[in-house]
Amino acid sequence: MTVHSPRGVERLITGQATTDGAGVKLKRVLTQELQRRLDPFLMLDNFASDDPDDYIAGFPDHPHRGFETVTYMIAGRMRHRDSAGHEGLLQNGGVQWMTAGRGLIHSEMPEQEAGVMEGFQLWLNLPGRDKMCTPWYRDIQSAEIPEFTTPEGVTVRVIAGASHGIQGAMARPADAYPTDPLYLDLHFPPGGAIFEQALAAGHNAFTYTYRGATQVGDTAVPLHRMAILDNRGDGVRLQGLAGDTAARALLIAGRPLNEPIAQYGPFVMNTREQLMQAVEDFQRGRLA
Ligand code: FE2
Repeated sequence: MTVHSPRGVERLITGQATTDGAGVKLKRVLTQELQRRLDPFLMLDNFASDDPDDYIAGFPDHPHRGFETVTYMIAGRMRHRDSAGHEGLLQNGGVQWMTAGRGLIHSEMPEQEAGVMEGFQLWLNLPGRDKMCTPWYRDIQSAEIPEFTTPEGVTVRVIAGASHGIQGAMARPADAYPTDPLYLDLHFPPGGAIFEQALAAGHNAFTYTYRGATQVGDTAVPLHRMAILDNRGDGVRLQGLAGDTAARALLIAGRPLNEPIAQYGPFVMNTREQLMQAVEDFQRGRLA
């Protein structure tokens, strides 16, 4: 597979330090103001700390409705429980993919009192027709995530979509799931290896460098920066910049829904009326 016309970087974004849950410190990389530009993605948080005070309070019971949450754990252990009685443990390298649909209440709590907790939570929108679907989730253990290494030495973990002919852990029919997400975790060897990925025309795409530094097209992307890719071209060319640190980056893309986005905290719907209904349903215990 060759990328003939690589997309360039439209904009570099620095994550905003914030707290969420019961006081978990994190970087909000994809903020609300970028939701239209990066449709169908609504949020990307990066949490990374070796100080338990930054994460120990976790995310106690809270609701969601109208979208999907994708939690990717790089290091650490997080236990989740939801109001439908499901429970699972998310560990190093694993993913929890949850379709909130019409709603549920869940908690996401660290199951460690020391050590490094590092990972990402991505919010992926659902089309209006699916916002009230039955909630669903899947715990994907690290060993279940397809992985390959290119001749240049770049190791690719295919969480969703497909790369170089390898289907991801989440590969759903695009007619049933129109956002058709691609989610790759790229590990570059030290020394400047290049990785190319085809991207569907019209799909919005971005990278996030979480170790070392990368180059995307002609643009250097420092640590902890999101690079929003422009929408011209048939793919992207990333490079781990030469240095002592092996670079790592996420590459995420999806088909925009082009629907109105109405958000109130953990509810993302199409209209204000639907949001008010979500709040009312939550307050009356209909999400439990
Ligand atoms: Fe949550």
